[in-house]
Amino acid sequence: MVKKVIQFHQPLSNEDGILLFEGFNTVELAKKFDTPLYLISEKRVRDNYNRLHNALLQNYDKIRVYYAAKANSNLSVLRSLEAEGAYLDAVSPGEIFLALKAGFSPERILFTGTSVRNDELNFIANSNVVVNIDSFSELDRLLLHIVPKTLSVRINPKIGSGHHDHCITAGPQTKFGLWEKETLKTYAKAKRAGVEKFGIQMHVGSGILNLEPIILAFDNLLSMAKKIHDKLGITFEFIDMGGGLGVPYKPEENELDLCTFSKRILSLFKRRIAEYNLGTPFFCLEPGRYLVSDASILLTSVNTVKVTPFKKFIGVDAGLNTLLRPSMYGSYHHVLVANKVTSQEKEIYDVVGPICESGDFLARDRLLPEIEEGDLLALLNAGAYGFAMSSQYNSRPRAAEVLIKNKKCLLVRKRETFDSLVFNQQMVE
Ligand code: LLP
Repeated sequence: MVKKVIQFHQPLSNEDGILLFEGFNTVELAKKFDTPLYLISEKRVRDNYNRLHNALLQNYDKIRVYYAAKANSNLSVLRSLEAEGAYLDAVSPGEIFLALKAGFSPERILFTGTSVRNDELNFIANSNVVVNIDSFSELDRLLLHIVPKTLSVRINPKIGSGHHDHCITAGPQTKFGLWEKETLKTYAKAKRAGVEKFGIQMHVGSGILNLEPIILAFDNLLSMAKKIHDKLGITFEFIDMGGGLGVPYKPEENELDLCTFSKRILSLFKRRIAEYNLGTPFFCLEPGRYLVSDASILLTSVNTVKVTPFKKFIGVDAGLNTLLRPSMYGSYHHVLVANKVTSQEKEIYDVVGPICESGDFLARDRLLPEIEEGDLLALLNAGAYGFAMSSQYNSRPRAAEVLIKNKKCLLVRKRETFDSLVFNQQMVE
């Protein structure tokens, strides 16, 4: 069992059968801060960023890592990545607002929207961030507010991939990105309008452990860059492969080999920019999950153990309102019993939440030690799209978040209260 914990390369260890997170006793933390509780390791976030950045720098020296804030937009997480020198990928005015608050300067923020409103374009123009256009109309409408100095376009590189249909964001079925004709029209219009510097971007999807689709799509993006360069005389300041790097959620899955990834993607990049005469643009990427997923766990207490003629259910205090991924995508999050880490696994259980829907589960058919009410479970890899996708569904206040930083436990998001449920409501007679 200890081996299984360590195998995840997360800030986890075991002391006398109790799960430690960054050296802190999770049972004590659950008592102190209550559950459901997200614990985040600041060090792991920083390490993930640096490992990736350094692996890329081995093969090319103009690298920008844009953190995709949608994965986890906690201000303290943003702050740490800002301090490491990360750039930021924002998909809403709200994410721009948070990034600026966390200290990112506008030129380090790339906004990639979809279905963007006019007033949002106005806000974006005023905040001076770099815009990555997702439709011709968006450019048209942006130009009513500003002629940006730098502009990027999200193209559809024809190939998509992802851990679930909902997470495939390129190829024929998706709303994202521009196809060739529109792409050329958009760059031509931007150039005519006076834009001086250009970028080009794609995002094939999320949760990708097999690099092949990213490499093939990136090659398509590079040949599109050549067409734009040849037809319109545009050279690119940056070329952005988007996000999508996967992480292992299951014990039998392997981590991405960063050295291979860096070599493969950057040797293709360097070969093509030389062959296509594209100069020396920045190579950019937009990891979300890769930077934060394994830096966080979700602690949840066992309220009920229920045995039916067919199944054994562990009822916990976190549900799809706290961690939506299992219910929404059938995603796997590994479960450890935080107060019985070394106990022998004995029974098969479903871990279910307090939400009145049958789809409210966190884990299905898991072999775990015998569970009693009052036990504490830890769901691993909860840092990406965990709190970020949580809600108040069933009128449940959202969970708290604690950051472990410099050997201190800091409450970085208070647990919501009943007051949070009525915030912004106005009762009429
Ligand atoms: N860039 C863009 C434009 C994106 O839309 C996304 C994610 C990323 C970067 C970061 O992707 P990542 O490196 O995290 O894979 N809720 C889903 C994931 C949806 C991702 C949406 N876009 C999940 O929980 O798996």
